[in-house]
This record gives sequence, C-alpha cells and structure tokens, in this order.
Amino acid sequence: MNTGRSLLAGLVCAVLAQVAAAQTVDQAQIDEGIAVYKPPIGNCEPCHGFAGGGALAMDVYTDKGTAPGPPLTTSKMSREQMIEIIACGRLGNETLPMPQYLVAAWTREHPCGGKVAADLPMGEKPPLTSRPLSVREIEAVVAFIQLAYQGKSMTFETCQMYWGTRSLACGIFK
Ligand code: HEC
Repeated sequence: MNTGRSLLAGLVCAVLAQVAAAQTVDQAQIDEGIAVYKPPIGNCEPCHGFAGGGALAMDVYTDKGTAPGPPLTTSKMSREQMIEIIACGRLGNETLPMPQYLVAAWTREHPCGGKVAADLPMGEKPPLTSRPLSVREIEAVVAFIQLAYQGKSMTFETCQMYWGTRSLACGIFK
C-alpha cells in the first residue's frame, strides 16, 4: 500500500515537473528572438508583419497589394520545420522569396532537402540575406514566433512585449 502510494506520488511529481518544464518561457531567448525579428538583424517584420499576420506591399506596376510573406499565425510548421526554412530560405511563388539565413545552408555541412547549391539550376537557390543568423539566433526567433504568433492573434501583452511597455501603439489591442 505504502509503496503503491509513494510510487503514485513519484509519478505525479514527475508529470508536474514535465508540465512545469514545458511551460517555462526562457525570457532571455524570447527577447533575443524579438530583436532578431526586427530590423536591422533578421528583418522579418517587413515581410511577415509585426503581428505575424503577413505584410502587404503595393506592387507599383499593377497597383495591387501583394503579401511578401505569409502569415505566421496560421503556420502549421513544427519548430524543426521553421528552423529549416529560415536556415535554407525558399523561393516559393510569392513576390519576394524567403531569404536564406544560415551561411552554411545549401552546403555539405547543411544540405537543404538533401541538396547543395550545385544541385540546383541557376537562379533557383533562395538569396542569402545581407545579415546572416547563427543557429542560436534562428532558434530564438522560432521560440518567439511560436510563443507570440503561431495559432494566436495579437494581444495587448504581446504587442507591448514587442514594442515595449511605453509604446502608445498597442492601445488598439486593449
Ligand atoms: C523578403 C521577404 C521575407 C523576409 C525578409 C522573411 N521572410 Fe519568411 N517567408 C517569406 C515568404 C515569401 C515565405 C513563403 C515561402 C514559400 O513557402 O513559398 C516565407 C515563409 C516563412 C515561414 C514558413 C511559414 C509557413 O508555415 O509556410 C517562416 C516560419 C518564416 N518565413 C519565418 C521568417 C523569419 C523568422 C524571418 C526573419 C529571420 C523571415 N521569415 C524573413 C518571405 C520573407
């Protein structure tokens, strides 16, 4: 009886510890992720929007709005898939391609979809960004995206986390 009870108690503790670990937000990592998302580091914001809902750009020739980056709020990607698309980039069908952010991507050190740059026809490799990211920075921006955007809509708290508590921009989310 006693062993049964302590076993049960041990199990409950183990489960609780796991839940706590899963809920712990590494604020330093999130802050780094926000910095990466903004200009001038990763500069994701102009294409994916500060609210992660995608961004609109006007096409000067057709005078129509086009979205350079898809919404991250509705993304179905796993953490690993996000890390990979940020590292490798993707040309896609959009007006502007998703840039490659990891210098080692498309090389033998980090093949993309099993390929290196030499396997691709001319002009098919996504352009390398002017400010590449480290693996650590990529992981930080993904942690931020999954905390603030994926499966969520913008809130006052998230808006203030992004722009700072003294910003006046977030009132509309109250
Ligand atoms: C020049 C515009 C541009 C910039 C800058 C940009 N992206 Fe993208 N991003 C795109 C486009 C276009 C796609 C869609 C590619 C496709 O699948 O066709 C995309 C796709 C993605 C996806 C996959 C979403 C999904 O579920 O399909 C993620 C995640 C992402 N971007 C994150 C980022 C992050 C993080 C940054 C900054 C470090 C960034 N992007 C910078 C244009 C951009």
